[in-house]
Amino acid sequence: MKKIDTTASINGIKLPLCIMNASGVLCTTEQELSNLLNSFSGGIVTKSCTYKPRKGNVIPRYFEWNIGSINSMGLPNLGINFYLSFLEKKKINKPIFLSISGLSKEENYFLVKKANESSKITAIELNLSCPNIVEKEKMLGYDFYQISNFIENIFKFNKKPLGIKLPPYFREEHIKNMALVLNQFPIFFVTCINSLPNGLFIDPMKESVVIRPKKGFGGIGGSIIKPFALANIHKFYTYLRKDISIIGCGGISSGKDIFEHILCGASAVQIGTQFMKEGISVFERLKKELIFILEKKNYSSINSFKGKLKNF
Ligand code: DHB
Repeated sequence: MKKIDTTASINGIKLPLCIMNASGVLCTTEQELSNLLNSFSGGIVTKSCTYKPRKGNVIPRYFEWNIGSINSMGLPNLGINFYLSFLEKKKINKPIFLSISGLSKEENYFLVKKANESSKITAIELNLSCPNIVEKEKMLGYDFYQISNFIENIFKFNKKPLGIKLPPYFREEHIKNMALVLNQFPIFFVTCINSLPNGLFIDPMKESVVIRPKKGFGGIGGSIIKPFALANIHKFYTYLRKDISIIGCGGISSGKDIFEHILCGASAVQIGTQFMKEGISVFERLKKELIFILEKKNYSSINSFKGKLKNF
């Protein structure tokens, strides 16, 4: 039997496995990050951080059901200095993506500068798509006027590999416009997609919402969002410069789902809701399931089928 290669390259960043965690899930504390360092995951994405530590929103702020999840966490994180000093202490055996989600453009400039000072960070995942913060500024991922100037400012000083975590888009025109902006900059990757913003899950027995913040509204993840993730990945794959890699995120719970993300153009994938449900063993299971599919299909690596989705 031929050896199957499940490693990945994100615009030259080598991952020992194409599967990692999605930012936000079990990647906030020292214990959670240590577990990820010791796991099969091909990389580690840290919880989106701010300058100051944050407790986040009131609980309950996360709820899951058979095919989805809803959250309004409110950016609970230990502050950028914690993540930088944690990484300083550790022996690092896989790429580290520091996720940054400042509450203002100025805070993001500051956080990107700080991240540039650390040799332990492989890349920055700049999160322009957090749906749960009610601040003065509009979510940059949906602000087609400001985002170009914002990214231009970032690249005036940024020297690290940098990618952008995007929200889902529901119109081709929006993806095309965003890709045209991103194509002007030396961006390494985009991560598609963050949760679908402002969903509402309710309990008809209790006649109530299921999470406390924002009257029950929150970001939707899990299997039900997979068609939106695939659509965004595939459209960005057509419109982005070919050297900008896509990290697929949204609705992965099996090896088949990973196969679909890669077929649409993803170079690697992230696991959110399913990692939350299943815990750290999810990476090894998904790796086995992916290898099983590639064996059956006679593919020896991800590159043999990446982006090769057929039309009728
Ligand atoms: C949170 C949720 C997100 O989807 C995100 O991208 C960043 C932060 C949160 O509520 O903590």
